[in-house]
Amino acid sequence: MMFFLARRPRVYSDEITLREAVPADARGIIEVANAVGREKTYNVSEVFGYSEADERSLIARLDRSKELILVAECEGRIIGFLTLYRYFGGRSPKVQHVGEIGINILDGYRDKGLGYRMMNFAIDWARRRGYTKLCLSVFSTNERAIYLYKKCGFVEEGRRKAQFKIGDTYVDEIEMGLFL
Ligand SMILES: CC(C)(COP(=O)(O)OP(=O)(O)OC[C@H]1O[C@@H](n2cnc3c(N)ncnc32)[C@H](O)[C@@H]1OP(=O)(O)O)[C@@H](O)C(=O)NCCC(=O)NCCS
Repeated sequence: MMFFLARRPRVYSDEITLREAVPADARGIIEVANAVGREKTYNVSEVFGYSEADERSLIARLDRSKELILVAECEGRIIGFLTLYRYFGGRSPKVQHVGEIGINILDGYRDKGLGYRMMNFAIDWARRRGYTKLCLSVFSTNERAIYLYKKCGFVEEGRRKAQFKIGDTYVDEIEMGLFL
């Protein structure tokens, strides 16, 4: 009889490099976004909205004094990314102090402390660039993410009831914030 062992990634979070994205990371970022989107569980978007060329150009044009795309790389592969953009695109003087965070890590690399590392990198990065508040939103069903955000100091600031429907289940949108 033959036994097959489930192939799990061998890597641990300290073997994963965090760095700011460069245009050549566009494809890897899209692959992560689409893989997480296909799970249909965590994000509103199920398919990445931009082409690889668009994403390359977005990364090339980032205002690195205020905008961050952080990638997690393992053995040459992008396995997660975090975005920190100006809230409301920074299109108003009213929102210059607020950054908005999004984060996605491939299945298989979760629950190893990587999200915590990435969030702390971003929080420190934002503080050094003069942001005084970070915000994000999360599905009420995403207990792991909510736990992580609270561990990083975020608190619930508001809730939109039944804002989404995943399959047959209505899900609240929780707004969270962190003062820096
Ligand atoms: C959410 C996400 C970014 C977290 O990153 P991660 O690397 O898995 O997180 P970490 O390993 O740093 O921390 C996860 C913590 O949650 C805990 N956890 C796991 N499942 C949990 C659950 N169902 N309820 C509560 N806590 C849970 C883990 O024990 C761990 O806590 P600890 O390190 O204090 O023991 C990542 O899992 C991910 O990308 N998930 C899919 C996409 C997603 O949800 N994106 C966020 C959308 S708002």
